[in-house]
Amino acid sequence: MPFPISAERVSVMINANRLLKHLQELSQIGRNALTGGINRFSFTPEEQQAIELVTSYMEEAGMTITVDAVGNVIGTYGEGSETVMLGSHIDTVPEGGKYDGALGVLAAIEVVQTIHEQQLSLSKKIEVVAFKDEEGTRFGFGLIGSRAMAGLLTYEHLQKTDASGISIGEAMKQSQISPVLLEKIKRNDIQAYLEMHVEQGRVLENEELPVGIVTGIAAPLWLEVTVTGVSEHAGATPMPIRKDALAAASEMILAIEQMLNDRTDSVTTVGKLIVEPNGVNVIPGRVTFTIDIRDIDEQIISTLESSILRQMQKIAERRKVTLKTKMMQRVKPTKTDPMLQQQLANSIEKQGVRPYSLISGAGHDAMNIAAVAPIGMLFVRSKDGISHNPLEFSSDEDIMIATNIFYDTVAGLTK
Ligand code: GLV
Ligand code: MN
Ligand code: MN
Ligand code: MN
Repeated sequence: MPFPISAERVSVMINANRLLKHLQELSQIGRNALTGGINRFSFTPEEQQAIELVTSYMEEAGMTITVDAVGNVIGTYGEGSETVMLGSHIDTVPEGGKYDGALGVLAAIEVVQTIHEQQLSLSKKIEVVAFKDEEGTRFGFGLIGSRAMAGLLTYEHLQKTDASGISIGEAMKQSQISPVLLEKIKRNDIQAYLEMHVEQGRVLENEELPVGIVTGIAAPLWLEVTVTGVSEHAGATPMPIRKDALAAASEMILAIEQMLNDRTDSVTTVGKLIVEPNGVNVIPGRVTFTIDIRDIDEQIISTLESSILRQMQKIAERRKVTLKTKMMQRVKPTKTDPMLQQQLANSIEKQGVRPYSLISGAGHDAMNIAAVAPIGMLFVRSKDGISHNPLEFSSDEDIMIATNIFYDTVAGLTK
């Protein structure tokens, strides 16, 4: 049920039309005209164009802009030794939607612009951050900007390469982001970090609520698996003597799904598969696939990882193929700060909405920032829970309600 907003309930309102216009403009960058999917990957011309647009919005909102050594774009508003940071990301998955990440950055800018227009005097400065590469699309390794700010990005990480062999470090140099001084990026001055994001699930929709308060964020472990068999003639090789890498990988993928079948919180996904040599009349000799394992509990993730590896090894031995696994990325699950949860709950109540708490199945930059600051997250209802898909949708009204709540919390924290 949509919630009616009355002037008595909300004394200051953000400019919803401006925010929706910004969201629409940003969604045109990297948009595939055929599918409507958005493709903005790190250190590409599309991402650069998005950065320039977002930077112009930040300037319009009265912020000064800096770019740190990994390419995080930071808009600073006001002065003071203490910082309240707001952020999210503007990169996308392949064929992504228009709200994931983008909404959080643009809503944060809208909050600052409203504060600017209201000429509120602040005791703390506000920083709005568009973090570098949250999704991990290009390098199979994500959350680059937030890792760096939390002191969790290493020089070894910068060696990770994209499909054409370009490393993160090289991509940075090509973008004139150099020298990379990782030690200098780590922040110890953030009093609070807040992120607004679309839920990407169906919980709020089922509860008929426009927003929710995140209590914890499940974290991903990504593995790359290579199965090697023998590539042979599809007509001349009898079935019993084949070492078919794709048949073996298929059995592994189904076994992983089977292992998680009766779980609700833990999830695993095989989302990427490369078959070589990929010919109609050639037995697949090598298959590379990825596994994404998530839970809110780190111990459960580790237990799942070992059972999956054991199960795959058994299948490999029986099918006489070889198995190699490589860790792509591991992130720590996190809890959000109880005080910030309460502040968000107060702002939600002021709007006459029932405060409701839920966990995040998706990963967010907030989970890294949790290593250096208290974090809070506000979720906005997603339609049918669809995300990482061009059909991703949150209503204009929900966005307006959420951003007004976000404004109220930020204004309260920086008073
Ligand atoms: C990206 O959105 C992720 O949660 O993996
Ligand atoms: Mn996101
Ligand atoms: Mn995403
Ligand atoms: Mn994410």
